[in-house]
Amino acid sequence: MDDHIQQAWQFYKSLGSPKFICAPMVDQSELAFRMLTRKYGTTLAYTPMLHSRIMTESKSYKDEFFTTCPEDRPLFAQLCGHDPQVLIKAALMIQDQCDAIDINLGCPQGIARKGLYGAYLLEKREQVLTIVKELKQNINVPVTCKIRMFKDRKRTLDLTKDIQEAGCSILTVHGRTKEQNKDFVGQCDWTIIAEIKQILQIPVFANGGIYTWSDVERCLQETKVDAVMSSEALLENPALFSGEIKDLNDLALEYMQFAKQYNARLAEIKAHLFKLLYTGLQIFTDLRSKLGSAKTYEEHLEVVIELKNKRADVPKEDKLGWYKRYQNFKQPQNNKDKSLQKLENIIQQQDLLIQKNDPQ
Ligand SMILES: Cc1cc2nc3c(=O)[nH]c(=O)nc-3n(C[C@H](O)[C@H](O)[C@H](O)COP(=O)(O)O)c2cc1C
Repeated sequence: MDDHIQQAWQFYKSLGSPKFICAPMVDQSELAFRMLTRKYGTTLAYTPMLHSRIMTESKSYKDEFFTTCPEDRPLFAQLCGHDPQVLIKAALMIQDQCDAIDINLGCPQGIARKGLYGAYLLEKREQVLTIVKELKQNINVPVTCKIRMFKDRKRTLDLTKDIQEAGCSILTVHGRTKEQNKDFVGQCDWTIIAEIKQILQIPVFANGGIYTWSDVERCLQETKVDAVMSSEALLENPALFSGEIKDLNDLALEYMQFAKQYNARLAEIKAHLFKLLYTGLQIFTDLRSKLGSAKTYEEHLEVVIELKNKRADVPKEDKLGWYKRYQNFKQPQNNKDKSLQKLENIIQQQDLLIQKNDPQ
């Protein structure tokens, strides 16, 4: 085993060989949310993507978007950008407060095309490899990468080998192409992740297609990766990695405490509450509007408390996050369990009430 591979494993083990990872998420994997998911089984978390150029130009950007605390470890800070010198400068600003610097090679948005980063940079093989090499030589924490796959399987496999060779210590693979975005998200390909895990020697994390705890177990088993990273399912259920079913309203209340303690931004709070309270807000649509127009921390908290009180009579419907519940609703009548049946009755009553008040 060459030195780099050995160091990569030493590094991964020094973090406690984390298996359950909170993904980097702009406006959503902020300190407060990371601390909540860590409480419920996340063993490594990523910051939201930080723009390397803006970070080096604006102290207020860094102070607003990169916040952490001693308990927020292990932590990988994710950067985007295409200029190795700028990426190095940004990495040097935060390397003392994180365990690794991750390069975003997966963002599929139009803004990433304009700025030449994320999945668009991934197409520039030489530039990617230069960035990994230069960063590795110039900073004192390991460099990791998060990629999407190409449509061309061989091209993906070849590039991952090159990235490893260039000095990447951990590779996260999102098993979708950059075209699988927005309305075209579709299936995540775990077979390519399994293949990458087989051919690489550094630790590999799988990302994509995780909705439930059984998906987590299945993904580990089918791909043999070292860890599983989740994004959207964790947003809906921050306790996903505990493997237990928790009350989403209680989790929302707990999130609000963390949000206060760690000064979450209102945009982050609002976006979290819409996902956390998804089912309740489908039933109590007045609260959905109230959440939409909430302007202060207290107004957001009020919605969480009001919803909790209104839901007191509703059975525990937070079985598996909204995605699975939606599937349950589609099951034939006699397959539904009693609590789902009761919940559906409540929704129907609400619909009738809405129709009565709004005859249109
Ligand atoms: C709200 C949101 C913000 C995201 N921001 C980032 C980001 O900053 N960096 C990144 O690499 N991926 C980002 N992603 C992509 C996720 O990290 C992840 O790759 C993708 O959602 C697939 O994982 P999932 O199937 O578990 O959701 C974001 C996704 C969401 C939903």
